[in-house]
Amino acid sequence: MRHLIDTTDITVEEVDRIINTALDIIDNREKYSQACKGKKLATLFYEPSTRTRLSFTAAMMELGGNVLGFSDAASSSVSKGETVADTVRVLGCFADIIAMRHSREGAPLVASHYSDVPIINAGDGSHAHPTQTLTDLLTIRREKGRLNNLTIGFCGDLKFGRTVHSLIKALSRYEGINVVLIAPEELRLPSYIRREVCDKNNVPTREVTTMEEVLPELDILYMTRVQKERFLDEDEFERLKDSFILNSERMKLAKSDMIVLHPLPRVNEITRDVDNDPRAAYFRQVENGKFVRMALIYTLLEWAKEAPETSQTPRLDQNMVHNDWRCSNRQCISNWEDMDRLFHPTEDGYRCAYCEARKK
Ligand code: CP
Repeated sequence: MRHLIDTTDITVEEVDRIINTALDIIDNREKYSQACKGKKLATLFYEPSTRTRLSFTAAMMELGGNVLGFSDAASSSVSKGETVADTVRVLGCFADIIAMRHSREGAPLVASHYSDVPIINAGDGSHAHPTQTLTDLLTIRREKGRLNNLTIGFCGDLKFGRTVHSLIKALSRYEGINVVLIAPEELRLPSYIRREVCDKNNVPTREVTTMEEVLPELDILYMTRVQKERFLDEDEFERLKDSFILNSERMKLAKSDMIVLHPLPRVNEITRDVDNDPRAAYFRQVENGKFVRMALIYTLLEWAKEAPETSQTPRLDQNMVHNDWRCSNRQCISNWEDMDRLFHPTEDGYRCAYCEARKK
């Protein structure tokens, strides 16, 4: 059984196949209108969402399938203490594929260890958001015509921004990518991503403190929101929330064919006067999200037919189980629910398999 928990669960060739399927869907809507007839998607959203949940819903409807699930965990038996592991085993009795968003990092990986149907990570805490990455890649392909030889600036909250983490991982597998990180000191990209993704893949990466100094050289500006919900200290959020604002004056510094992406929602980091600039691609990006999720659902269900799951649960690499260790990340699912603790070895010690934080 194939799941999509992290961007790198699928090869570059598989990413390209999903993007090409999305492009085929865009050109041939009717051809796919019954492609998932009789199939059901469960959307388990433990954290708020507009785009991701509703684009998954629209995607399955446009494939001729049906959708069930919850958009508020408080209205489900999660509020009675049911674990992620038990919830997905139950939903597997009702649905053919599950999209899960959770505020605890690693929850979708736990789900995949217990599920008999494909699990899609629809965003886990500050960790990863691989379907937003597929959305971003499809948008870049459609807007720029390529996924290589691009200089991309990531701006805003690079520490907690899961969309940034996933997109950097994905783009680092293509040739000629240059990354510029534009963030205040407190919201810098986690060092393990810089080291283990950018440096390992020889992606030139530099950090700057102002947008102005790099805007003229960017092919893509990827804006992000400073996320109030990720801060433990409200004063720190207040101090940082207006760090970088893109407005039409600053857009004058950018190339005529630079595109502006944003996973949305935005608050004030892109002013309204930018919306009518043809380089503002963030609402076109939203629509691409539906098409790429159609392609992903379709592909994962095809793969599930080819390689159905064996019955043993949980599906763990026993070499990675260390139940006497703890993850150092308070927000990691392994610190909140009863489960086997999984750690994988890296160059600088062991990291939690659920959230990639160091072992305690
Ligand atoms: N981009 C994104 O994940 O948006 P939602 O939080 O609205 O799903």
